[in-house]
Amino acid sequence: MEKKKNGFASGIGFILAAAGSAVGLGNLWGFPFKTSANGGAAFVFVYIACVLFIGAVTMIAEIYIGKRAAANTVSSYKKINKNFGWAGLLVLLIPFLITCYYSVLGGYTLKYTLNSFAGNEGILGTFSVNIGEVILYTALFMVLALVIVMAGIKGGIEKASKVLMPVLFLILVFIVIFCLFLGEGVQAGLNKYLNPDFYAFFHDAEGNLSFNGLLAAMGQAFFSLSLGMGAMVCYGSYTGKEIKVGKSVAMICIFDTCVAFLAGLAMFPAIGALAPEQLNTSGGVGLMFAILPLVFARMGAFGQVISFLFFAMVAIAAITSVISLVEVVTQLIVQKTKMSRKKSALVVMAIAFAISVPVGISLGRVAILEEAGLNLFGFDMLTFFDEATNAVLMPLGAFAACFAIGWLFGEKKTLADWFSPKALVARLEEDGLHLGKFSMVFAVMIKYVTPVLILFLDVSGIITNVTKNPNYWFIVGFSLLLIIISAVFYFLFLKKSNTGCNADELAAEEVEEASAE
Ligand code: PFF
Repeated sequence: MEKKKNGFASGIGFILAAAGSAVGLGNLWGFPFKTSANGGAAFVFVYIACVLFIGAVTMIAEIYIGKRAAANTVSSYKKINKNFGWAGLLVLLIPFLITCYYSVLGGYTLKYTLNSFAGNEGILGTFSVNIGEVILYTALFMVLALVIVMAGIKGGIEKASKVLMPVLFLILVFIVIFCLFLGEGVQAGLNKYLNPDFYAFFHDAEGNLSFNGLLAAMGQAFFSLSLGMGAMVCYGSYTGKEIKVGKSVAMICIFDTCVAFLAGLAMFPAIGALAPEQLNTSGGVGLMFAILPLVFARMGAFGQVISFLFFAMVAIAAITSVISLVEVVTQLIVQKTKMSRKKSALVVMAIAFAISVPVGISLGRVAILEEAGLNLFGFDMLTFFDEATNAVLMPLGAFAACFAIGWLFGEKKTLADWFSPKALVARLEEDGLHLGKFSMVFAVMIKYVTPVLILFLDVSGIITNVTKNPNYWFIVGFSLLLIIISAVFYFLFLKKSNTGCNADELAAEEVEEASAE
């Protein structure tokens, strides 16, 4: 009998699932407005450079860390170095926190999808503070994601991604073509989106030199590619020998970037044609949930169909992303506690749901209506968690992956073994990572260039933010607290104990089946 394995059934299944994790609200919403706010095509160029030099390199490292261990994130980092397993715990707390706010936004997308035929124009102010409804849609979104995670990797995540990702892409292409032919105003929209403005990219609103554009590009690349949060380590752990890491990463990065670029190519021409007075308004929650509904309303009867397709596409993107976040945490619980997948996923979701309730309330009252209310140190809760995870912790998670592969990985006998990229290539090849002619470039990047860039940008981002708003220290403090908790918990409870691996889930299932017979 062929040996059973719990993981992706095929290479394409893995690529679609990883692309599903990557393509999400970050692409369909974050990228377009960040591009238009940060110098258009100038931002796109720098973004692509970030994807190439930072994103792809980090993604190779993360997928490989998971793949070679075939285990949860804690065990995967532990396998690199026993004293570094806590990084695996840290990169697991981040997706958990993201789940709590991503699901609230996911709930919004479901509401807007289902309400498309009744019209979404102007509902943001009333829907967002209708707490019962917000909670209901958040719960609905979480249940959909839960059902997929409960069904496992092959039967749930892979199956769902194989169906949903092509659907998403077809809808996107259709909407882009539709929007590009809306006539007058399309050009103005395109200019707003893409007009290259390097001055705007490197300066703030007051005309001072600023790295904010660069920071936004890097942050966006990490978030969009699902890096620094264990998701790629986790999905990578479910891959087998048939998957080529380098090629898969290239495909995921290209797909993710194309979708992000196309999303803007739909939105801005449509706004330019139908709501040109909105072209210069802010791109936050308003872009997706207030301005676009206005645009759809002005499209006439067909606008309802476009609205439905558009929000369904966003909801699909959000679901295939959130399942990767939940899987990271579920995987560890299944493997460490030997509880069933269904129970583990349910526990993770239930706790995330409890936290998402105040986040949902805070988003409506504080962020959207700008009333005093549920906030954390002057930030609405979504912004607080979003900043802590995206601006502070995610780059550190990505740094951890680079550091693990670049410096901790493998046995080093001589000084050259420590410092030479060539020696690193040899160690990686011997271990099973073959990158062909890119291997030297990869080794130099992962050892010397990428981690330095990441640290520089993370630290300068923190400095910029605390100078602008001293309360930002609370966000930094909260992030540090999570790091300390991960480290203390790891060294006290996990370092010496068995933290499990993917095969454990199969073994547990077999025992269960045998006892049922
Ligand atoms: N990459 C997703 C997006 O662009 O919306 C968000 C995300 C999913 C981030 C999964 C992190 C992650 F682990």
